[in-house]
Amino acid sequence: MMMKRDVNPPGVTESKCIGCKRCVAVCPSFVLEMAEEKSRVVRAEWCIGCGHCGAVCPSEAILHTGMDFEKHPKGGETPAATPEAFELLIRERRSVRNYTPDPVPKQILKKILDAGRYAPTGTNSQNVHYVALTSPDQIEQLREMTMSFYDKIFSRVRRRFGGFFLSLVAGKKTVEYLRDSLPKMMVAREAMNRGEDRLFYHAPVVMIAHAESWDSSSSFNCSVALYNCSLMAHVLRLGCCFNGFLVNAVNHDQKIKRWLQIPADHRCYSAMGLGYPNMKYERLVPRPPPKVMWR
Ligand SMILES: Cc1cc2nc3c(=O)[nH]c(=O)nc-3n(C[C@H](O)[C@H](O)[C@H](O)COP(=O)(O)O)c2cc1C
Repeated sequence: MMMKRDVNPPGVTESKCIGCKRCVAVCPSFVLEMAEEKSRVVRAEWCIGCGHCGAVCPSEAILHTGMDFEKHPKGGETPAATPEAFELLIRERRSVRNYTPDPVPKQILKKILDAGRYAPTGTNSQNVHYVALTSPDQIEQLREMTMSFYDKIFSRVRRRFGGFFLSLVAGKKTVEYLRDSLPKMMVAREAMNRGEDRLFYHAPVVMIAHAESWDSSSSFNCSVALYNCSLMAHVLRLGCCFNGFLVNAVNHDQKIKRWLQIPADHRCYSAMGLGYPNMKYERLVPRPPPKVMWR
């Protein structure tokens, strides 16, 4: 059975309601309806707790227990950033693979994680969970476990029968991709053996986002939450690098998943290394135009 987040439904203060119907129009769950020129709650149990009704109400008629609405600092008429500022922000964010050894203060990490909670989630489930590793010993252990997972995978890929059995589980395309990646993996392995961290790039923090695997929105929820975090990290002058290698290892190696204390019914959907960059990018990088089919 699908689990529903505990949500307090809204209430309408009739005397304050001016009958503008905005709360009814924005509600995605048919919670509110108009009756005699006033908004009223008709399906409280369907509320997903998105807060849109209270945020849109011009007369503060909506009460939402546990949801402290704050006044929009700019009134809400104009977005917080100009298109130019926003474009520059998303263009100057880079995957950072060179860090200073400085640890990241917990206050800063909390600020970064806070950016994640403002990301959208399917049905407003707010179901993103994080593991934040800050101890060098623990990051080292995770690196070792992840690398030994890949050592096993690549040794299978190298063998004819190993590759065949792997393709039954992972698919032919994946095995072909892994086979093509073998030379690169060997170079990475040699670098790792020399003490270079080609997995986390010596990042002082590793963050993992996980959520219930039954929820088809979990992958998106975790990814955009961590992307929000990465943007906040960037404006705080930190850097991140998403880590698909780790995501894959966590989801295919029960030992790693258990070690991270990720519940059995969750999957890891996104991960990143994080720290202070020790290199500055002088230029923006061009990207190809969007692949759009206009119809
Ligand atoms: C889902 C995902 C997984 C990634 N995994 C890795 C990874 O395991 N290792 C790595 O060095 N970079 C990883 N990256 C970073 C990409 O290589 C990077 O985003 C891309 O090269 C573009 O560079 P930019 O992020 O600076 O624009 C990943 C990015 C994404 C979105």
